[in-house]
Amino acid sequence: MVLLSASPCGLARLITVCERYAAAHGLKYNSEKSEMMVFGVRAGSEVSVDTTLNEYIRRRAGLRGTKYMCLEGGCGACVVNARAQRPGTGEIITFSVNSCLVAALSCEGWDITTIEGIGNRMKGYNVIQTRLNHYFGSQCGYCSPGFVMSMYSLIQSSEHHLSEEDIEKSFGSNLCRCTGYRPILEAFKSFAVDPDPKILSKIKDIEDIDNLLCPKSGKKCGGTCKDDEQEWCLINAKVTTSNDDSVTKKILISDDKVWFRVNNIKAIFSALDDVQGYDNYMLVAGNTSRGAYPIKYFPKVLIDISGVAELRAHYLDVNLVLGANTTLTDTLNLFNVLSKTNDDFWYLEVLKKHLEVVAHIPVRNIGTLAGNLILKHEHPDFQSDIFLLFSCVGAIITLVDHRMQQTEMGLPEFLTTNIVGKVMTTIKLPPLSRNYRIVTYKIRPKAQNAHAEVNGAFLFKFDPKDHKIITASIVYGGINPSFTRAYNTEHFLIGRDLFTNETLQGALHCLKKEVDPDFNPPEPSPHYRKKVALALFYKCVINLCPREILNPIYASGATLSYDDRPPVSRSYQEYDTNKPDYPITQPLLKKEGLIQCAGEAKYNDDIPTIAEEVFASFVMATIARGEIESIDYSDVLKIDGIITVLTSKDIPGINTLGRGDQPIIPEDEELLASDKIFYYNQPVALVVAETQVLADKVACLVKVNYKNISKKPIIFTIQDAINAPAFENRLVSYPGMEPTDRGVNVQRVIKGQFYSPRQYHHTMELHTTVTRPVDNGYEVDCSAQWQGVTQAGIALLLDIPYNAVIVRTRRCGGAFGCKIFRHMFAATATALVAYKLNRPCRMAMRMPDIMRIIGKRPDTRLDYEVGVDGNGQIQYMEATFYTNDGMSSNENENSYAIRSLKNCYNPDRWRVESFGVITDAPTNCFMRAPGDFEGISGIEHIMEHIADELKRDPIQVRFANYRTNDNQLPDYISMFLDKSDFNKRLEYIKEFNAKNRWKKRGLRLSNMSYEAKYFGNYSAVVSVYHGDGSVVINAGGVEIGQGLNTKIAQVAAFEFKIPVEKVAVLPSYDFATPNCYSTGSSITIECVALCVIRSCEQIKARLAPVRAAMPNATWEEVVMEADVRGILLQANAETSPNDPRLKNYPIFGVAATEVEVDVLTGTKYIVRGDIFEDVGRSINPALDVGQVEGAFVQGLSLWLMEDVMYSHHKGEIYTDRTWNYHIMGAKDIPNDYRVYFSRNRPNPVGILGSKATGEPPTSLSRCVVDSMRQAIQASRRDSGYDTDHFLNVDVPVTNESVVAAANVKISEFLLY
Ligand SMILES: Cc1cc2nc3c(=O)[nH]c(=O)nc-3n(C[C@H](O)[C@H](O)[C@H](O)COP(=O)(O)OP(=O)(O)OC[C@H]3O[C@@H](n4cnc5c(N)ncnc54)[C@H](O)[C@@H]3O)c2cc1C
Ligand code: FES
Ligand code: FES
Repeated sequence: MVLLSASPCGLARLITVCERYAAAHGLKYNSEKSEMMVFGVRAGSEVSVDTTLNEYIRRRAGLRGTKYMCLEGGCGACVVNARAQRPGTGEIITFSVNSCLVAALSCEGWDITTIEGIGNRMKGYNVIQTRLNHYFGSQCGYCSPGFVMSMYSLIQSSEHHLSEEDIEKSFGSNLCRCTGYRPILEAFKSFAVDPDPKILSKIKDIEDIDNLLCPKSGKKCGGTCKDDEQEWCLINAKVTTSNDDSVTKKILISDDKVWFRVNNIKAIFSALDDVQGYDNYMLVAGNTSRGAYPIKYFPKVLIDISGVAELRAHYLDVNLVLGANTTLTDTLNLFNVLSKTNDDFWYLEVLKKHLEVVAHIPVRNIGTLAGNLILKHEHPDFQSDIFLLFSCVGAIITLVDHRMQQTEMGLPEFLTTNIVGKVMTTIKLPPLSRNYRIVTYKIRPKAQNAHAEVNGAFLFKFDPKDHKIITASIVYGGINPSFTRAYNTEHFLIGRDLFTNETLQGALHCLKKEVDPDFNPPEPSPHYRKKVALALFYKCVINLCPREILNPIYASGATLSYDDRPPVSRSYQEYDTNKPDYPITQPLLKKEGLIQCAGEAKYNDDIPTIAEEVFASFVMATIARGEIESIDYSDVLKIDGIITVLTSKDIPGINTLGRGDQPIIPEDEELLASDKIFYYNQPVALVVAETQVLADKVACLVKVNYKNISKKPIIFTIQDAINAPAFENRLVSYPGMEPTDRGVNVQRVIKGQFYSPRQYHHTMELHTTVTRPVDNGYEVDCSAQWQGVTQAGIALLLDIPYNAVIVRTRRCGGAFGCKIFRHMFAATATALVAYKLNRPCRMAMRMPDIMRIIGKRPDTRLDYEVGVDGNGQIQYMEATFYTNDGMSSNENENSYAIRSLKNCYNPDRWRVESFGVITDAPTNCFMRAPGDFEGISGIEHIMEHIADELKRDPIQVRFANYRTNDNQLPDYISMFLDKSDFNKRLEYIKEFNAKNRWKKRGLRLSNMSYEAKYFGNYSAVVSVYHGDGSVVINAGGVEIGQGLNTKIAQVAAFEFKIPVEKVAVLPSYDFATPNCYSTGSSITIECVALCVIRSCEQIKARLAPVRAAMPNATWEEVVMEADVRGILLQANAETSPNDPRLKNYPIFGVAATEVEVDVLTGTKYIVRGDIFEDVGRSINPALDVGQVEGAFVQGLSLWLMEDVMYSHHKGEIYTDRTWNYHIMGAKDIPNDYRVYFSRNRPNPVGILGSKATGEPPTSLSRCVVDSMRQAIQASRRDSGYDTDHFLNVDVPVTNESVVAAANVKISEFLLY
């Protein structure tokens, strides 16, 4: 609990989060100390404007259950609950906030509840924590505390029963990269008042369903029913109220800044007068705008106005007068009520709906109207939804200056008014009669939590006698910084009947002339934005057009696809369990699931503050190709808190990230560039500081001078590399495929190109390492998939023996391949600092730095020519596969891709050449199913191409090319078609597409035969404790969310015939399990499980004589006796690729997606997703369902929205933040999501009959592109385009890609 309140002496007082935590843990907590720490005499030096609530909770209060990732309100990892007094009314309100956005100093009077406060192992867990765990909603667990706190706050703040719909739409704030959201949504929907019985039945076994009876009604209820008498949520704190409203508080904080907290408008000016701060100040309302437009350096004077009641009040005269700093949540709630109760403000219903897709709940809870409008003033390119809506309805704002002189103006005028020294006090919204109609749209890359690509608001006043327009207001965002209003088009419309094709086309003609989007990457292209702007106008007219005029096939064009998605999603999972085999096949909860949901699971940066620790941040190159001449950091060293700057010259050993002699890392890559620069933002130095914030802030101040800067265009894409001059050969040849046969029945020759884009791993836990000098060596806590490579890299860098480096990884908060080797930037950097300073060093690379410095899943290309017969059977294939490797060939995936290209097909007639290409970009890196994803997707693309060209059923084309041996897909496919109602749905889609011109559906499937291939050595140590027979396993693999610890515990329990609870799994520690390979390729669990089985067998063999002598003894008694006899109760084992027990095997799978696309805007939703996977005899099917669902969503996310954009001219990345790089959110997943596992099919060569699950389903996600293509083709057919040929849609299939591919003509925008 953090409670900041006013003390009698006028200084703010802080009672820390520790107080509640301490109480919960039965500890005494001295709040006096923290009072002094922050706001007492030493306050100025202890807190800075950069000290966010998150920083405070985690580092000062030491409560690291609350996580962080993006630090800009985009991911939800940091959500906490706040209770505070509403300024003016004194009402206590409870709400969620992103603790990364809130300045700690703004929390005065707030009562903050963190994840520790709602439940923990000492006082018992909160039902939200247990429920999320019970539904398997936590994989790596890093996102879980944020989700729990969002749900907790939702329940706390809801004044009525929450429906499933209310719950499902409330998680736009939170990202999860592992689960695919389905289990999280179900866990939370189980709290609804009307939960789907199928959802509730999932908790029947684990919680007493009777406990879910509503205390009020006695009926079944998920528990969200608010009852003041019986608050089942656990908060019990008193919010402190301010003693004296009129007092302005002034606090000198670090960085020489001054913080005021004022309670009335006049005091704002008094404060500015006091410090003569008019030239360098900022008002702090919600402080959320820094999430949209980051603020690196805050001004000198900060005035917290969040407590100014006048700015939060509202009243009705003729107009609705809103206090300018009314929060978006309060505005939304007010609009909801007023639109229903006051006929003059009916239109607020439309605005309310739009507000629901502005930011997300925690930002809306504190972000204010004025803050948003001022942001638009400061950044005219900002696609502000508030400006759009208010400008459209003719809102008037009031500005007040230091003489308290008021000026009123409309929003267009406001944009060009100098607002320095002025405070926005009110926003007036006019009453509108029912003769007005208003329609608004926001085109965004995902359903929730994304700013607009283009937004539009349209208000018309109609003549009540006819459809003639009396006044018009057409407002757009996302066009260019100076364009907000289509005045010419408005003028054109006056006096015309809107609902004629002539008026419509005339208006579109005008719009076309006046809408002139700028080039503003990474925003979509001007061409797209213009087309969408026109489409929005058309949509609006369809929306308003009387149905007797409108041709019904146009009607569904009125909405975006997001609006058509049913509000509540559904799911289904089908798998076998076999009780006699338990705990094998038992859907046991994840071992650490509950502590993850409770924020008790420790990740690397949760290691408590270490005395003397320092923090490091990379200085990055600002050229793509050239050489370093000199590095000047003399000025930086003068900055308070900066300890040193290190360059390559400080490296005692080899300047390398890792040992460049591993099979997947054949080259050395420098940690800090010594001379040559190979890509933009390559690390060149390290700034070491007393805080991470300071190190990150200052890194860009180091001056790097360059020489021999290349004047040639950089080589960035695969095509650039192919075109590169011969002397600069960029192509590295890898083994391809040679045909052994060639068919003679060539009836068609088909040529094409498959492309798969880059993808950012987007782990929720950042690249984080803490390295400590210990005795003569180093202890390294590193979020890594591979301890061996970490140890080797550090030893080489520091020129010390391997045994001086001990590496430990408790767990990773997501990895997906980027922590196989790319974690080495943070690992080696901290080791270097620890070595140079002999002090512990901690580094958490910020998301933008990771995106800049580190490569991604590589983009790949497959150029192909196939000759096929009339059935689509390939007679020959000539193909070339390229992988964009970036600056080095490390982590090249060509061999995996070529292997997987075969998929389930007969490759005898295929010739494939294979190249890696070297480009002026960071080395790309493995990501989930590396190469396999690209190979399988590539050949599936070719099958679709053949089918489209031949006009044949794509499933039959696949059958024509299947290999006959070693392929179970023919059986599986027919089962899958049946289960998924595939053919019936295809029929329905035909009908749907015929009836709808602007909404189109598509349904396609993909199939795979994915080869699980063993490589690398893995080991495990099993130890039994004689005292109680409990077991501990040291695994040579890392828990990265895939359930390794749970599954190997199940295996050990099975072997010893003891309860799983008796088995613990320790963090991966490379002194216990040395020389292990990386955790990856989904085979680690099997290898480690085999090691566990073998270790258990050794122990069992040693115990056998004891057991024989004590046939009726318990396990505990046998173990105790064995110890007495001096029998070693520890054993280990190692697997290697030479192990005869490990045999590669195929994993079969089929998946289908049905999509619905709005071809006018490109927005889409996935109507249904079905996945079948052959998992053998799953050790834990519930965990495997999670792997399959999560992997598939990760693939869908890549194909539909993840757009890594670079400046090809400069090589600099444009998309380095959650603000501009989007992964799927909870409302983007298939609305109906079904998973089926193979039944009674144990894997004959698998460990305990199981198969790997973690990566393969990613490769099945390609079907979504093919479904999108079918939908787009349906529109193109209506447009009269030639659809006889295959349409190669650009990927990712973003809104822009859809609009470009559909290429609807403006002349088709008609009403009848
Ligand atoms: C993750 C995220 C998603 C978002 N998505 C969207 C979106 O989809 N659409 C959209 O439109 N916006 C979006 N936003 C922007 C959001 O609406 C704004 O951040 C918020 O409204 C700003 O309000 P604030 O109170 O936090 O402003 P602050 O950050 O406190 O202040 C912003 C600026 O306004 C000034 N200011 C504040 N009040 C006054 C006043 N009364 N008089 C004069 N100056 C004042 C401050 O000096 C400061 O310069 C998003 C933001 C985030 C973080
Ligand atoms: S860290 Fe706060 S929202 Fe991402
Ligand atoms: S479980 Fe959600 S990010 Fe890993």
